[in-house]
Amino acid sequence: MSKRKLLLAANWKMNPAPAAAMVNAHGDRSLNPYHPHADIDVVVLPTFVDLQRCMDAGLIIGAQYGHPETVGAHTGDVSMAMLKKLGCRYVLCGHSERRANHGETDEDVAAQAIAALENGLHPVICIGETLEEREKGHEKTVVKKQLKHLPLESDVTIAYEPVWAIGTGKTATPKQAQEMHAYIRSLLPDDRRESLRILYGGSMKAENAEELLKQPDIDGGLIGGASLKPEEFGRMIEIAENLHG
Ligand code: 13P
Repeated sequence: MSKRKLLLAANWKMNPAPAAAMVNAHGDRSLNPYHPHADIDVVVLPTFVDLQRCMDAGLIIGAQYGHPETVGAHTGDVSMAMLKKLGCRYVLCGHSERRANHGETDEDVAAQAIAALENGLHPVICIGETLEEREKGHEKTVVKKQLKHLPLESDVTIAYEPVWAIGTGKTATPKQAQEMHAYIRSLLPDDRRESLRILYGGSMKAENAEELLKQPDIDGGLIGGASLKPEEFGRMIEIAENLHG
């Protein structure tokens, strides 16, 4: 089991925030499972337009993307500085959907992570191989390259999300995930190796959360589809709390 405090992050992607998340529960988790917990970290990552409402409901919020420049001619973008000013604590960098749909390169992702840190945001940096890369046996080479330019000496979180497991219902087995997490950890700077959190993402749900979260190098989850279902997300939080409470 992980020695680090678990983090469960709900990535809602381009979906409306679940109504249950908007209830200001004043600490009553039966009313809102997304609210902050004592023994584990819980973060929600809504669309930009729902950030303020989630914050008003007392949730810890992060954005799904932030532009590294502070201001300027970048139509449609929002800067890290603006996200910080709004009250975001976290930001995703380099999700595979952004890499695929917006052409974000490893260098772009590193620039985002550095800008996030400079603006006082905690970057959750996504890495992971495609199905084709795994079938060729290249998964370790791919993540090694993705890690190369990242500010790993700083306070960041890594999310290992094998692209073939995202939204497909096909989860990496706990053994496959653990092997990759241990490999990623072996590449971290000496003084960060034991403290940096590595989340797993890719069809994580209540049904498989326990087995995944029991692995020594899996420090939480970056959860898509299942995080949109309040009851299921609540069960995942309970599982994490029971493991680490
Ligand atoms: P799913 O949990 O829907 O597979 O999505 C994973 C993901 O991409 C989280 O960032």
